[in-house]
Amino acid sequence: MISNRLSQALSKQITSEFTASQQYLGIAVYFAQQSLDGWADFFYRQSEEEREHGLKIVRFLVDVEADFELEPLGKATPQFTSPVEAVRAALSWERQVTGQFHEMAEMALAEKDYTTFQFLQWYLDEQVEEEATMQKLIDLIESGVNLFLAEGNLPS
Ligand SMILES: [Fe+2]
Ligand SMILES: [Fe+2]
Repeated sequence: MISNRLSQALSKQITSEFTASQQYLGIAVYFAQQSLDGWADFFYRQSEEEREHGLKIVRFLVDVEADFELEPLGKATPQFTSPVEAVRAALSWERQVTGQFHEMAEMALAEKDYTTFQFLQWYLDEQVEEEATMQKLIDLIESGVNLFLAEGNLPS
């Protein structure tokens, strides 16, 4: 049986993941408005992935019979001062999210809730990948390459 404390942290994380989905949607729109359609598509996909991350937690909480609320999502914007600023914002959100998963993993271990601890492993791996991806995009933009020509170099 999952503790209230842990199920509340996970339900807050649902809101974080869905908010991340909104934030990536904002970045996608930012690129789409400049006709950088390959970049926009990458971030549209990223937005969908974040929604999946949230849903995975929803399904887990249902499976472990936790009671939880679905809170309103945070606000997101499609306005950035430059492409690199948009992706830097994403990297900093991802780092924040990584910290949230570390805290939950710590909580699960402290409570000897090995089931939830195991569930969280997937997210810890995913966060390593997402931070690395955003860092690669920052490096790509900072190389000074023409962003239209760089569309073929975006991670799939
Ligand atoms: Fe996520
Ligand atoms: Fe993410």
